[in-house]
Amino acid sequence: MNKLLSVLVMMCLPVLAQAAGGAEPQLTTAPINMDDKVSLQRGAQIFINNCLGCHSAQYMRYERMAMDLEIPVDILKHNLMFTSDKVGEPMRSAIPADLAKKWFGAAPPDLTLEARLRGPDWVYSYLIGFYADEKRPWKVNNHVFPDVGMPHVLSAMEKSLGEKAFKEAMADLTNFMVYMAEPIRAERERIGVWVLIFLAIFAIPVYFLNREYWKDIH
Ligand code: HEC
Repeated sequence: MNKLLSVLVMMCLPVLAQAAGGAEPQLTTAPINMDDKVSLQRGAQIFINNCLGCHSAQYMRYERMAMDLEIPVDILKHNLMFTSDKVGEPMRSAIPADLAKKWFGAAPPDLTLEARLRGPDWVYSYLIGFYADEKRPWKVNNHVFPDVGMPHVLSAMEKSLGEKAFKEAMADLTNFMVYMAEPIRAERERIGVWVLIFLAIFAIPVYFLNREYWKDIH
């Protein structure tokens, strides 16, 4: 009975902590799917066209991304590369960090590892979390990043797409950022499945071998 009680108390603790803190923003679960290549490709396009203007993703190379996401090299070169001209180069941003800091009050951080740093749900909630706020320099604020220095760079897209399609686009963008933060992830999961299958099959001869070894001893 005591045990049950303590389990119940433990289960309530996070809720109580949140109620007491009050400041933690509510995050929306990001619909991530690493196997959805089309979504990842759309995300890559949105990212390159709208984010590399200010942010870099300097631990990601165009070539690696194109290979992983199955983007043909000519499409990569003609549609996806604006800031640098060689496929082997990392994704650099278009504006120098010190200028950006002067314009926005804060330097736009490198986003390669952002999804691992903040988590996919945070990134997704941030991207769909901009709202109008007259008091801020860019007339916008953000639900999960109060008083953020970044303008709502996708507000035109949000208006033209409508809420539902915009959220889907932001899910694609988040999906891409999760991939970028850990390019090996999809591959690791695929290998993991084969390792488990191998172990399951391997267990059969091991079982019989074991029986064979011990059969004269008993
Ligand atoms: C006009 C320049 C600009 C563009 C374009 C831009 N950002 Fe930003 N972004 C900023 C600045 C400046 C900050 C830092 C804000 C702060 O610290 O107050 C920022 C912050 C962020 C953060 C939070 C980083 C943190 O502290 O964890 C994320 C995530 C982000 N941007 C994602 C994006 C994505 C995704 C895009 C493309 C859709 C994008 N940004 C386009 C300027 C920009």
